[in-house]
Order: sequence, then structure tokens, then C-alpha cells
Amino acid sequence: MTEKMAKLTIGDKSFEFPIISGSVGPDVIDIRSLYAQTGMFTYDPGYTSTGSTSSAITYIDGEKGVLLYRGYPIEQLAEKSNFLEVAYLLLNGELPTRPQFADFEKTITRHTMLHEQIVKFYSGFRRDAHPMAITCGAVGAMSAFYHDSTDITDPRQRQIASHRLIAKIPTTVAWAYKYSIGQPFVYPRNDLDFSSNFLRMCFAVPAEKFEVSPTVARAMDRIFVLHADHEQNASTSTVRLAGSSHANPFACIAAGVASLWGPAHGGANEASLRMLREIGTPDRIGEYINRAKDRSDPFRLMGFGHRVYKNFDPRAKVMQETAKEVLGELGVTNNPTLQVAQELERIALQDEYFIEKKLYPNVDFYSGIILDAIGFPTSMFTAIFALARTVGWVSQWREMIDDPTQKIGRPRQLYVGAEARQFVDISAR
Ligand code: ACO
Repeated sequence: MTEKMAKLTIGDKSFEFPIISGSVGPDVIDIRSLYAQTGMFTYDPGYTSTGSTSSAITYIDGEKGVLLYRGYPIEQLAEKSNFLEVAYLLLNGELPTRPQFADFEKTITRHTMLHEQIVKFYSGFRRDAHPMAITCGAVGAMSAFYHDSTDITDPRQRQIASHRLIAKIPTTVAWAYKYSIGQPFVYPRNDLDFSSNFLRMCFAVPAEKFEVSPTVARAMDRIFVLHADHEQNASTSTVRLAGSSHANPFACIAAGVASLWGPAHGGANEASLRMLREIGTPDRIGEYINRAKDRSDPFRLMGFGHRVYKNFDPRAKVMQETAKEVLGELGVTNNPTLQVAQELERIALQDEYFIEKKLYPNVDFYSGIILDAIGFPTSMFTAIFALARTVGWVSQWREMIDDPTQKIGRPRQLYVGAEARQFVDISAR
């Protein structure tokens, strides 16, 4: 079979580069020999046309609104699976059998405790510290405690670190919340499922009996499933870049937490709910739509738009349905924020500006409404996203380290600074 080639012409010279096909999705032009052949680099700030790796974990078709984890549609996983099963799938490539699932669940629940000395770290933070600041610090600090799982050349250590991160991140995030509200930490309980355990660590207090509502636990689990992975987004690429230098896994995931924090990425769920509340009533929507369309105004509709999805975000659909279900089951009727969200979505989707730019609600548009109804403050939203995405980060990190052709990530640049010049002594400047 003849290899497909792409031809590049510069002046009177032509160069050829192989075209590689994946299992599905657009082909890529393999330009690894570009510099050697031409003495030039590509220029693609923001990586809008750059595939940074090959991966068999998650597939997105942004035009059709498709999201697959290991081939399974996100809608099916959200409806029929659960977060720990999805975690196993992302990590290992296949859905677990019953014994495999039982074994995995046991492994995760046996690693939920944090080292007791890490607990002391929390009191070093100000009470009003953002949960993401604490999460970032606490996850990075794990590399100082779990030395028996930081040798990345040992597959068993990589596996232990992966399980520890997935198991300990709910405790880390829940305690960041408890610390911020001045309540005692609630230790994990291994007889509860993953989501119920997290909710209990967030909302139980020693003085009262705490029952986890199955509705709320289901909604929490679905939010985790929908956020578990999303191929090479900013935070995942950050984890991969950090990992490419063979940094230990705890440090790499801490880097991912930091990258997720920004409002253009994981911080959008917090910003989206704040915006919906600020709008307040449907009659004020027009004013905000006009601001979003005004190029001289930096305001954007938070929870709208996506680098990859140019049709709809399949996660947003599931999230919208879950929001309605949860509010209904919790007896929250006439929720003004949900009303504003639904009306804003309806108006924006008919507006020429949003249609032309293919801007649709993303996963973060509705997730904040559910988290708010469950009882989380907005400051916890991104930390909950980080909790779920840890599974994706760890899976992508492991895939990278397992790849024998893996190299350190080292982009180049278009230098636009001063040319070489002579140093001038301070007396002569
Ligand atoms: N509101 C108004 N206009 C928007 C919005 C928005 N939310 N998003 C994009 N646009 C406009 C831009 O102004 C730009 O217009 P122009 O062509 O006239 O300059 C055009 O649409 C393209 O936008 P870019 O910023 O170039 O698109 P990019 O792919 O780089 O950005 C991003 C994607 C960051 C998600 C962007 O849409 C945004 O800022 N959205 C709001 C924040 C948000 O919801 N982030 C969550 C992303 S999902 C996630 O991380 C889980």
C-alpha cells in the first residue's frame, strides 16, 4: 500500500511528509522531519491545528457533537455506568468484568485516607483560601509522602500512584471545603460508593446522623462521569508536558489542577453560575447578550463556546437533563437561575452572532446549577471538576509514560526580540 504524502513547496523546493490516519477522525500530517528537511518550524500558538500526541483514550468529533471514552458514547456511560467503572475504563481500555470491578473498587476505597501529616498542611492555609489553591498544594505535597510510588520507570509504582490519586482526591477536595467553613474534617467511609463517600465528607457533621440522598449521589456521579476526560485540553496537555520531563505523577497532576483553574477552562463553571445570578431575571438577558457581542467589551457569555465543539457539547445536553431531574427531585421548583439559563440558551441559539460563530452551551453552563442545588458554594465547582478530571489526567499520563517513543515536550518559538547587541554599562545608559 502506498503511503499518503503531503507536499510542501517553499520557493522552488518541494518537501514531502507522511499523512497518518487514526482509527477515526481527521488525518494528521507528520511534520516531525520538517526542521531537519527545511530548517523551519511550524507556528501555531494556541495549538489550533496541532496534534500533540496520539492517544487511544478519548475521541471528540466537534462538528457532530460526539464524545467517546474508549469508544463508548458519553450519553450511554452517563446513563448506564458509574464513575468508578468509567475510571477503570479510561485507565485500562476496557469495561471491567464483575470481579475486576470489585477488585478495583476495593483498591480505590482502601486508599482514600490522606497521610495524617498532610492533614496538618490544611491549617497552614488562610480560612478563605480558594479550594483550588488548597487542592493544588495538597496534591503536589503528596509527592513528599508517597515515595514508594514516585519511580515512574516502575509500572507497579505507576499503578499505585494512579490508584492513590484517584482515591485521595475526593478526600483532598472535601477537606478543602470543610476547612473553608471551619468544620471538622470527616474521614472517608469505605462502605459507601465513591460519590456518596465524597458527599458525606463534604456535608456530614459529627453531631448529626447523615444520610446521603440517592438522587444527589446519582447526580454527583453523573457530573464526575461527564468531566472524567476530554482528550488533549489545556490541563491534560499540561499534565502530559510536565510528565514528559519524567516528573513524578503527584507533581504532574498538581500542574493539571493549576491549569484547570482558569476561567477559560475549568473555572468557567464558577464564572457561569456567577453570571447567571448577576443576570438575575430573564428580562435582563438582552443586555448581557449585547455585551457579549460587543467587541469593545471583554465580557463573554460564560459556559458558552468551545475550542472543539462547533455544533453542540454532548455533555451539556446530559447536564441540562440532569439539572432538571435533580431540581425536580429535590423539590426546587421555579429556580430563577435555571430559568435564566434556559432562556439565555434559547435566545443565544437564535442569535446571528452565536449561530455564525458556532457558540453553544458547554458542559459548564448547567453543572453549576446542579452543584448549587446540592449545596456547594461556587468556589467548590472547579475543585469538583478537578476531582473528576484526575482520572483523565492519570490515564493520559500513564498512556504517555507507557509509550516507548515518548520524548520530552519541547516546543520552539518565533523569536521577535532584540538581535544580539553589546552590553552597555549602567553609567552610560
Ligand atoms: N461569548 C461571546 N463571544 C464568544 C464566546 C463567548 N462565550 N466565546 C467565543 N466568542 C467569540 C470570540 O470573541 C471570537 O470572536 P471573533 O472571531 O470576532 O474574535 C470567536 O467567538 C472565537 O472565539 P475564540 O476565543 O477565538 O475561540 P477559542 O476556541 O480560542 O476559545 C473558549 C474557546 C475559551 C472556550 C471561549 O469560547 C470562551 O472563552 N468561552 C467562555 C468560557 C468558557 O465557557 N470556558 C469553558 C470551556 S469548556 C471547559 O473547559 C470544560
